[in-house]
Amino acid sequence: MSKRKINAQDLQIGLYVELEKSWFSHDFLKSEFKITTQKQLDQLLGMKLKQVMVDYDKSDLYDTDEEDLTLLEQLPQSRMPIVKDPKFAEIPEQWSSDKGITDDLRNVLDDKLMLPRDKSVAVYKHSVSMMEKLLDAPTAENIKASKQAIYQLSDMVMADDDTAKNMLMITSHDFYTYTHSVNVGITSVLLSKEIFKHSDAHDLHELAAGFFLHDLGKVNIDPNVLNKPARLNDAEMKLIKTHPYQGYKLLQAADALSPECSTIVMQHHEAFNGNGYPRKLKGQEIHLYGRICAIADVFDALTAERSYKKALKTFDALSLMKQNMIENFDKDLFRSFVKIYQ
Ligand SMILES: [Fe+2]
Ligand SMILES: [Fe+2]
Repeated sequence: MSKRKINAQDLQIGLYVELEKSWFSHDFLKSEFKITTQKQLDQLLGMKLKQVMVDYDKSDLYDTDEEDLTLLEQLPQSRMPIVKDPKFAEIPEQWSSDKGITDDLRNVLDDKLMLPRDKSVAVYKHSVSMMEKLLDAPTAENIKASKQAIYQLSDMVMADDDTAKNMLMITSHDFYTYTHSVNVGITSVLLSKEIFKHSDAHDLHELAAGFFLHDLGKVNIDPNVLNKPARLNDAEMKLIKTHPYQGYKLLQAADALSPECSTIVMQHHEAFNGNGYPRKLKGQEIHLYGRICAIADVFDALTAERSYKKALKTFDALSLMKQNMIENFDKDLFRSFVKIYQ
C-alpha cells in the first residue's frame, strides 16, 4: 500500500500529495505534486485540511507506519529467560563458505590459541573493519555475510567473558557509524547476556545481528547531514529520523529481516517516556529488545567524541543517564546495564 491519508499537520517537504479538492479550489497548478518548498508546505497547511492523501511510492520519505507488525508478534516477550549454551552452538557448514568482507573477522574468531587480550583487540578491529565495508557496500550479499559473522561473534561473547569484557575496555570512541555499530552491538549483547542468563527463549544470534545492524539505514542518509558538526534543522532532523525504517527496508530487500532485527532496527530510538521516534511508543509498548538497544545506543553516543562535544568517560556517561535521562529508559534494564561496567 503506497497511498495513505495522513494528518495534515504531519505533512513535510518530500511527500507527494494528492489533493481531493477540485483544481479550482486551491492555488496549486496541479492537484497532485511533491512538496519541495517551505512555501508549498505553508500554503497546504493554510488550507486547514484535516487529512491529506500521500503517495509514498512517489515521495522522498518512507511511510514509517508501514512496519510489519506481524514480525513483532513472533517474538518472546518474557523478561527473564534464555541461554542456549553457546559452547554447544553448531556453526553450519555454509557459514564458513563465503569470502569477502567477513574473512578476517572469522579467522580471528576461529583462532583457538590466541590469548584473550590479543583476541579482544583483533576481534574488535576486524569487527569495525567489517562494518565499515558493509556500510560502504550494503548489498544483500554483504548484509547476509555480516549476519553470519555476527552470529559467530555473539557465540564468542556468550562463551568467553574475558574477551568480551576486554573489548569494552578497548572500544574506540570516534564518531563513525561503523565504530558506533560495533560498540552498540557488543554492549547490547553483553546486556542481553546479563538479563537472559537462564533462558533459552531468545535467539541470541538474531538479537546480535539486530544490535550490530541497528543503524544500517544511515547508509541512505546524506553524509553531510549525518556528520554535520552542528545542530540539525527541522528538515535535517526529519531526514535522520527515517533511518530506522530505511534500515528495515534494506534488511527486508536483502531477505535478511528476522523479527528480532525488525524490532531492534525500528525501535532503537523509541524512548520509555514516549518521546522517541518514529512511533512515540511508550513503556512496555517498546519491545524489550528495542529497550536494550536504546540504552546501549545513548551510552555510546555520550562516550563518543564529536567535533562539537567532548567524549564522556564511562562513569560520567552512566551518571548523566541516571540523573538526567532515566525517564528515557527502562529502569530495571538500566540497572543491569550498569552492572556490566562494574
Ligand atoms: Fe539510530
Ligand atoms: Fe545508533
